[in-house]
Amino acid sequence: MLETLTTLTQPWADYYSASTWLPTAMIAMHVLALFVGGGIALGADRQVLRSRPSRSDAYLAAATDLHATHRIVIAALVITNLSGVALFTADVGTFWGSPVYWAKMATLAVLMLNGARMRSTEARLLASARNTVELAVAGPDVTEPYQSLRTHAWVSVLGWCTIVVLGVVVANI
Ligand code: HEM
Repeated sequence: MLETLTTLTQPWADYYSASTWLPTAMIAMHVLALFVGGGIALGADRQVLRSRPSRSDAYLAAATDLHATHRIVIAALVITNLSGVALFTADVGTFWGSPVYWAKMATLAVLMLNGARMRSTEARLLASARNTVELAVAGPDVTEPYQSLRTHAWVSVLGWCTIVVLGVVVANI
């Protein structure tokens, strides 16, 4: 498998290592995308963790704010992942055997799974909060998904921070 992958990616690896600007440009794109995506994700997570809504309309506002961040975070993750694949295939031999690299990929899988579950919880919350927006005190069909949202926010914060640390370790193997 490693041999096949090395043969397939050799032309790219040769071009990459011969270039004076490409390694810097690729790392810059990788880090800039995670800076933007991770920054907005952490900001939204902090908002979810700090807010203590009680009325349905406050829950609706919190979920609507979070919903507005997903598109840019997903776009940034796509760029981070594509540039990551370019970095990985530029030196398969180094990263393939690295447990740190695979720990990073496993953490990324958890982060993306958590993101998908966060979106479905948020959709449930939005629907319930819209249906009960006139209520002075939010019912369990609003407070329960919000509690799950807080758990997802914690997983997101820990996930992003862990990947960044593992990313730096991978870069200095
Ligand atoms: C949320 C997703 C990701 C984050 C936050 C992230 C973060 C980072 C960080 C902070 C670095 C260190 C940059 C440096 O110090 O030079 C890095 C390097 C690296 N990342 Fe990622 N990364 C992500 C996704 C990926 C993916 C999906 C892959 C591969 C498929 C990948 C492969 C790499 C490689 C190979 C390096 C080392 C590059 C080198 O030094 O030559 N990353 N990453």
